[in-house]
Amino acid sequence: MAGRSVVVGVGHYLPERIVPNSEFERTLDTTDEWIRTRSGIERRHFAAEDETTSDLATKAAEAALEDASLSADDIDAIIVATSTADLTFPSAATMVQAQLGMTNGFAFDIQAVCAGFVFALSNANALIVSGQAKRVLVIGAETFSRIMDWTDRSTCVLFGDGAGALVLEAQEGEGTAADRGILATDLNSDGRYKDLLYVDGGVSTQSTGHLRMQGNQVFRHAVEKLTKTAETALDRAGLSSADVDWIVPHQANIRIIQGTAKKMGLPMESVVVTVQDHGNTSAASIPLALSVGKQRGQIKQGDLIVTEAIGGGLAWGAVVLRW
Ligand code: ACO
Repeated sequence: MAGRSVVVGVGHYLPERIVPNSEFERTLDTTDEWIRTRSGIERRHFAAEDETTSDLATKAAEAALEDASLSADDIDAIIVATSTADLTFPSAATMVQAQLGMTNGFAFDIQAVCAGFVFALSNANALIVSGQAKRVLVIGAETFSRIMDWTDRSTCVLFGDGAGALVLEAQEGEGTAADRGILATDLNSDGRYKDLLYVDGGVSTQSTGHLRMQGNQVFRHAVEKLTKTAETALDRAGLSSADVDWIVPHQANIRIIQGTAKKMGLPMESVVVTVQDHGNTSAASIPLALSVGKQRGQIKQGDLIVTEAIGGGLAWGAVVLRW
């Protein structure tokens, strides 16, 4: 027997405003064609001015709780993966806790940029298997539109806002790879690569700052590191690519997604792709893709899923789970 963290609910929320690529043609030296062919992105959602990351996170959490037929009182812990929390403190997670009307348990944020959701899932799993929590809401939520430099065509066309959430529950498994739940995780970071992707501001430097990225350099690291972390996590679970039903990758760029699937020896039919509709929503992209993938009828109970992500840090990782 083995303690497992099983997904019992999933949900997402996207802000109302949809921005097609053509909108950037009016203000920047760019084209819909360039954005589509280089990134696979066709549109993205942007939060309203009065809509914060914790607002998006709360709506995604409510959808996940409804899907699980649970209420906030049934939850022991909330983890929000975000790099764009409403305030410097308190955490977005405690704001979600308050908005859900939950007064017990504990809540905190995790910041690993685009790899944030994978880090949050891994930490939630650790809380569950060590007996510190029975049910954990794991949320990825971002308002990256707030940290864009709207004059920088090489970054501002790539990102979007949104939130996705999972409810993880402690259940007993057999201790084999046939169990439902999280089967293995792999986390990595290498701070030497800070200059490839960062925000040039923060509390300690007394500004909010804007996202800066050497996109082609990040690209060079992405396919290799994502394939390796996915294969490491699969290996830890006693599985290989051949066992995978769905890759649910971080949705940054369709060419990275295609390159990673190819290197893992899997066809694009085994990949959940949402980048065309959401852009890069950083820590929100994987739970958004899980929720949309379930809605589309792609992801079904018992499916073997590998999620993988890389982002600022660099930080990267993968989680293998059976839905
Ligand atoms: N419209 C038109 N031309 C553009 C645009 C644009 N929006 N943006 C850049 N260009 C130009 C560049 O100026 C450059 O022109 P030059 O050759 O005259 O200098 C040319 O297009 C090629 O630029 P590259 O950056 O080499 O283009 P590339 O094919 O690498 O695509 C992209 C750029 C989409 C950013 C890609 O590199 C990428 O997706 N990188 C990875 C992003 C990623 O995965 N980030 C990690 C997660 S994000 C996080 O952690 C927050």
